[in-house]
Amino acid sequence: MKTHTNGFQCYRCGTRQASDFAGYNCPVCGGNLEVTYEWPRIKPVPGWWKEEARGDIFRYAALLPVTHLEWASPLQVGMTPLYSAPRLGALAGLNRLYVKDDGQNPSASFKDRAGAVALVRARETGATVLCGASTGNAGSSMACLAASVGMPCVIFVPEKAPTAKIAQLLVFGATVLAVQGTYDDAFDLCMEVCDRRGWFNRNTGHNPFTREGKKTAAFELFEQLGRVPDWVAVSSGDGNILSGLWKGFRDLKDAGIADRLPKMLCVQSDQSNAIATTVRRVADSGERDWGRVAISPVSATTVADSISVDVPRDGLAAVRAVIESGGAALTVLDEAILAAIPELARASGVFAEPAAACAWAGVRAAASTGLIHSEETVVCLCTGNGLKDVSSARKVAGEPVSIAANVDAAMWATDALG
Ligand SMILES: Cc1ncc(COP(=O)(O)O)c(C=O)c1O
Ligand SMILES: [Zn+2]
Repeated sequence: MKTHTNGFQCYRCGTRQASDFAGYNCPVCGGNLEVTYEWPRIKPVPGWWKEEARGDIFRYAALLPVTHLEWASPLQVGMTPLYSAPRLGALAGLNRLYVKDDGQNPSASFKDRAGAVALVRARETGATVLCGASTGNAGSSMACLAASVGMPCVIFVPEKAPTAKIAQLLVFGATVLAVQGTYDDAFDLCMEVCDRRGWFNRNTGHNPFTREGKKTAAFELFEQLGRVPDWVAVSSGDGNILSGLWKGFRDLKDAGIADRLPKMLCVQSDQSNAIATTVRRVADSGERDWGRVAISPVSATTVADSISVDVPRDGLAAVRAVIESGGAALTVLDEAILAAIPELARASGVFAEPAAACAWAGVRAAASTGLIHSEETVVCLCTGNGLKDVSSARKVAGEPVSIAANVDAAMWATDALG
């Protein structure tokens, strides 16, 4: 399989690296790198960019930066369903709302897309140990994919991550370092240990290949809808999912496959709002010299653990995605995030963890202010399955009706249903 990559470019200072660059971030300024491509001017065949028979993200191998697909996990990552959600849309006055359920990936989150490409990259570079820091999902995904090919995996995770995510890490056999601190502490520790041990570092943002995996969701959306949507709503912590989707749509356009781009809606909790705050500042100031844009860190406390981030590790790329797409970044209250879980579940049948339900809370808010119009095509991305954090769901799902074990009690309790 041939790749069309021609190197890397720094999001911050623009410096380029050749495609055999083996580092992670920009050697000049430390900024995150983007994988760049030189797309074929004369298309080999129509549909050259997808392999129809393949039902996972490597269907789009021609648009990816890895070549050794024989080293990919055998698990099916991606090609997740896109549901038309008219009843959910009606709640916000939207007539063309879709939900993409990435909770249906092997480890039940969107992060499998990143891990799947990172795994091939790791094996192409001869890595023997996979390592990463995670709020929970990126780690459980890496652990799952590592287990699928029998590779050792070390994950740094905040000790307060939901138990289901820790259980996943352990069950897949990863070495789990439960850090007595935040995700940001886990991230910094992981960076240092990977450096000293020479392990493959999957860390979000720092490793340019995670964004390349995440961009495959854009390709799927394009295929599933038959067009580029008007809006894509993404819950954001580090900002890597958002920047990944935006990268995917840009690749489609640059490669001459799609003729337009969507607007990106970044949704954050107001208790973890570093990207949204920076977008507002950059939009107000009109600053477009990205080397001068600093991301304002916060002290994150949101209930949506997966997007609880003090320093967004792909913040600049996410801010650029929002601004360059003509989109918006907004924040929602934690109460709105929790309320969005049963609302999304009851009106669409998709059960999202808090961080994923946050996207729906954001779409609702954006529709109510008129930012999103009723006839626009909107995709709300469900980035993680609700079973990842059942205790948050229980806070807002209501209680079962407790009855004595007899038919009279059961009939009485169901009287209203006829
Ligand atoms: C379920 C879920 N939603 C959203 C996000 C946010 O992704 P990012 O940190 O790339 O912004 C994450 C990241 O862990 C996640 O696990
Ligand atoms: Zn740089």
